[in-house]
Amino acid sequence: MAPRTIVCLPGDGIGPEVMAEAIRVLEALPLELTIESHLFGGAAIDATGNPMPDETVQACLRADGVLLGAVGLPKYDGAAVRPEIGLIGIRKALDVYANLRPAIAPGIDMLIVRELVGGLYYGRRGTLDDGTVFDTCEYHPTQIERIVRRGFELARARRGKLTSVDKANVLDTSRLWRKIVIEMSAEFPDVELRHGLVDSAAMQLVTDPDMFDVIVTENTFGDILSDIAAAVTGGLGLAASASLGSSGPGIFEPVHGSAPDIAGQGKANPTAMLRSLAMMLDHGLGEAALARKVEAAVESALASTPTPDVGGTATTSQFGDAVLAALAAA
Ligand code: NAD
Ligand code: IPM
Ligand code: MN
Repeated sequence: MAPRTIVCLPGDGIGPEVMAEAIRVLEALPLELTIESHLFGGAAIDATGNPMPDETVQACLRADGVLLGAVGLPKYDGAAVRPEIGLIGIRKALDVYANLRPAIAPGIDMLIVRELVGGLYYGRRGTLDDGTVFDTCEYHPTQIERIVRRGFELARARRGKLTSVDKANVLDTSRLWRKIVIEMSAEFPDVELRHGLVDSAAMQLVTDPDMFDVIVTENTFGDILSDIAAAVTGGLGLAASASLGSSGPGIFEPVHGSAPDIAGQGKANPTAMLRSLAMMLDHGLGEAALARKVEAAVESALASTPTPDVGGTATTSQFGDAVLAALAAA
């Protein structure tokens, strides 16, 4: 097989720190890979003025998988061009509409399926003459259909339970969402469907996280619920994600951000990044067996060499050392 190309976008804050461990792991895998790093986020603004340079977009479009660290730093608060614009933009450019965010802990095994390229983040926005500012939540039926179908399919392949989360008691977009979910459920009689309103679903994620299998929801709700799910299953340092389209490369990114409060101190837990790498092996490269090996090596490092966020004292690179040692011993 021809070497496959992995594009790494380290980004800002702890992004480059956790990406460094991902690159070490990639280099240790028995795969023929071409590994490229490209400017993205605040690092790209500093170098080029643009958080998503065209050269980076072209490299991502050519890649077999894109690994993304994190973007954003307080120094860009209030700036005209923010690093986050790059993240919103690259997701749209690759049309990775399905963001899979697993949250796993003893007795809990859920998968949040977040719509990633629609809703409030991409709707019409602006400022009126009187100073009113608006962001609009917009969804075309086809945008809802494709993510809901993904949710049903993923639930069917797991424990067969799907919770669709919306705010159908208030929002028109949510009423359209719920109508589409109900219609599509006829195609998935084997999937047990439940509808939840986002506020009470947030509560249940905290009080009864074990009741969930797959949750499918729109962009903003999924953003918030996935941080809650991460918090109840060990914290943001552990939470990985895969952002997938219908074809073309996926983006594999931790749920967490650039963690400016701990950046540059060697305290970041690279687990979320390495689990995202495992999701890339699985969903992007078709290397499921290797994905399981990486996951097992990360588990072993979590037990032997934990970072401060999970109660240990190891540095980011010591954690990486433990992962590499476990991989070599496997
Ligand atoms: P954050 O996720 O960066 O951090 C929240 C808390 O979790 C912090 O206390 C941080 O130290 C901790 N944390 C996060 N990742 C960790 C890890 N791997 N190991 C140990 N602790 C970890 O959220 P924030 O502080 O609200 O946001 C900071 C910046 O990141 C903002 O600019 C935001 O827009 C951006 N952000 C980017 C992404 C992304 O690039 N995908 C995601 C979320 C936030
Ligand atoms: C995430 C982040 C991003 C989002 C931000 C940084 C644009 O919070 O990936 O969860 O809201 O999607
Ligand atoms: Mn988020």
